[in-house]
Amino acid sequence: MRYRIASIPGDGIGVEVCTAARAVLDRAASLHGFALAWTEFDWSCQRYLDNGAMMPAEGLDRLREHDAVFLGAVGFPGVPDHVSLWGLLIPIRRAFDQYVNLRPVRLLPGVPSPLAGRGPEDVDLVVVRENSEGEYSQIGGRHGAGPEEFAVQTSVFTRRGVERIARYAFALAGGRRGRVCSATKSNGIVHTMPFWDEIVAQVAAEYPNVAYEQMHVDALAARMVLAPDRLDVVVGSNLFGDILSDLAAAVAGSLGVAPSGNINPERDFPSMFESVHGSAPDIAGRGIANPVAQILAGAMMLDHLGEPAAGEAVYAAVEAVLARGQTVTADLGGTATTEQVTAAVLGMLPAVTDRSRETVT
Ligand code: NAD
Ligand code: IPM
Ligand code: MN
Repeated sequence: MRYRIASIPGDGIGVEVCTAARAVLDRAASLHGFALAWTEFDWSCQRYLDNGAMMPAEGLDRLREHDAVFLGAVGFPGVPDHVSLWGLLIPIRRAFDQYVNLRPVRLLPGVPSPLAGRGPEDVDLVVVRENSEGEYSQIGGRHGAGPEEFAVQTSVFTRRGVERIARYAFALAGGRRGRVCSATKSNGIVHTMPFWDEIVAQVAAEYPNVAYEQMHVDALAARMVLAPDRLDVVVGSNLFGDILSDLAAAVAGSLGVAPSGNINPERDFPSMFESVHGSAPDIAGRGIANPVAQILAGAMMLDHLGEPAAGEAVYAAVEAVLARGQTVTADLGGTATTEQVTAAVLGMLPAVTDRSRETVT
């Protein structure tokens, strides 16, 4: 079997962690008897500065020919973020109707959490982020000038959009610990949030075996820090899900370990896999970025492609390296480089692959 993967390393550490993850994914593929046929695209802020566009006009058509997209990170000083992100990442999510942004967060054994007294059994949650509408809209504008100038930005919440993300969250919770917490802010945002709450509650009624609660997003942020063990599946709008997923990643030790999948569940279009983190200009070019988030995003991609054993092997190899704790990057308190962590994960792969074969047979 051969899967066609479009790789967009992008900017900053996106390029560094993509190189690392590709090496791991290729090795996992060959150990499991399939191949990844990569097409690499240089779409990035550098391309924008050289050619005036983040990607070519026919860019989305090029991606469509692939089984999945593997993206590093987009955005770098020199190009305004709203230009770079709306020129590449966000158009892909929307054109391919990747309406689920799936962000699993686990505190892995051996990784120190900033939360005192918390261990792996306390942090195992998934943020299900609405990824196609909500607060991220292009409707609005700037008006007037001088002290009278103002800006308006209109959120868009559709019944179809809220229903489908809620259904995804409840179905997911049904296969986990059976709890959904929906992020709201209906005390302050009086039109869209009560609408969100009403639809999520209607969907909740279809899943009597899943416990459902809603929390204002501010209180939910506090719970994520004070009692993360009470969270299983967290469903939120585009903006709330974005913020909560960086917070959850921090609770699990670092942004450097949090993967994500932009999923089109109907499989009408390719899904896209990337880290939760961005291009980290503050550490870019030094070879010290943690590649774990991108490698785990790759594991999610293998699972999505229908190669769950290979995905699990990649996960297990990463877990083994983190549990030993000798080869970790600075964000996790170590001194290892991106390359050293990658080599350690590659070194673990054959052993965990043999072990998973033993369990299967
Ligand atoms: P960021 O996630 O890039 O960095 C935040 C902090 O986390 C930085 O201190 C960084 O060094 C650290 N960090 C992130 N990933 C790390 C890793 N793998 N290893 C070690 N440390 C890591 O967020 P930011 O600084 O707000 O954004 C930088 C740029 O990235 C901006 O242009 C932003 O728009 C863009 N961005 C892109 C994506 C994406 O492409 N999906 C996501 C988030 C931000
Ligand atoms: C993410 C990022 C993006 C988002 C930005 C870069 C537009 O923060 O994927 O979490 O908010 O969706
Ligand atoms: Mn984000």
